[in-house]
Amino acid sequence: MVEEAKNLLDWSQWGRQWIEHLRRHKTLNRELERHLHKFEETFTLIGRQASKLDSTQAGDELPTLITRAEQVQEQFHHFLRLAQLSEDEHMEQEMRESAQESINVQPAVAEEVQVPVVVPAPISYPGAREPVRAARPVPAGRHTLPPLPYAYNALEPYIDEATMQIHHNKLHQKYVDDLNTAERKLAEARESGNFELIRHWERELAFNGAGHYLHTIFWPAMSPNGGGTPSGDLAAAINRYFGSYNAFRRQFSQAAEKVEGPGWAILVWSPRAHHLEILTAEKHQNLSQWDVIPLLALDVWEHAYFLGYQTQRDKYVENWWNIVNWPYVEERYEKARKLRWEPY
Ligand SMILES: [Fe+2]
Repeated sequence: MVEEAKNLLDWSQWGRQWIEHLRRHKTLNRELERHLHKFEETFTLIGRQASKLDSTQAGDELPTLITRAEQVQEQFHHFLRLAQLSEDEHMEQEMRESAQESINVQPAVAEEVQVPVVVPAPISYPGAREPVRAARPVPAGRHTLPPLPYAYNALEPYIDEATMQIHHNKLHQKYVDDLNTAERKLAEARESGNFELIRHWERELAFNGAGHYLHTIFWPAMSPNGGGTPSGDLAAAINRYFGSYNAFRRQFSQAAEKVEGPGWAILVWSPRAHHLEILTAEKHQNLSQWDVIPLLALDVWEHAYFLGYQTQRDKYVENWWNIVNWPYVEERYEKARKLRWEPY
């Protein structure tokens, strides 16, 4: 099977997992439920089409399929946003209008059975491309869980499916929910002028905000096609500061393995010092250096590896290098390094 068709199969599975997640965790009105059903049919259809493609057909059909799948993906991202917003009554009107738009753009799925539908290589890492909604600021209390940019089993054998399900579906979702609660409570406090519980909500804000943002970087910084070594300017910067890629990797692995208890190892660019650095964070918020931009983050909380590796964090760390998505890290570096403060 050609690589793109395989990406498409993964993508189809990713979509269906998202639908399952939504059905389990969200209360959708009838209209959204109907659209969800259509998306489910589309993802299933795309998976079926992909599994039938052999290398002789692929050349003719792939480009059309790729375009179609990109459209579906964009509509689905939009739908996910709406599904989150639908929990708020005030947003219902906008939701209905936008949902209608979304459905108008998408032709009836059932009629498309004969239309070839496949996914381009970039589809396998949608998270690496900022979703459309990223252009708009997130209002207080309205953070949403970013879709996992690949199927839950896509990182096997390095990270198992069950871990990914719990980690993304349950734990990251909880950070999002609790961050939203903290932001709403702080908004209420601003309104009432009662800041009696400010210490508590500030802690919640830091803990859950750091958890949400770091996990949001963590998912797309891995890829089923990851591994290898960085290239371009990021590779040069690593060599310049750490001496070599191997020296950098050794220090990063050691730092990750030696974090006391739960935490993270994070490759950062310092706009102040104008060089890269490797930092560790105990839990999320302790020992954090705030004037930095995370580029590559490795989650070494037990939940990230325990089912597959038990207490062998070092094996997990070592294997994790096989799935690092360097182009994503490079992209972050290219953007982040443009930010430079006055050096002191
Ligand atoms: Fe985590």
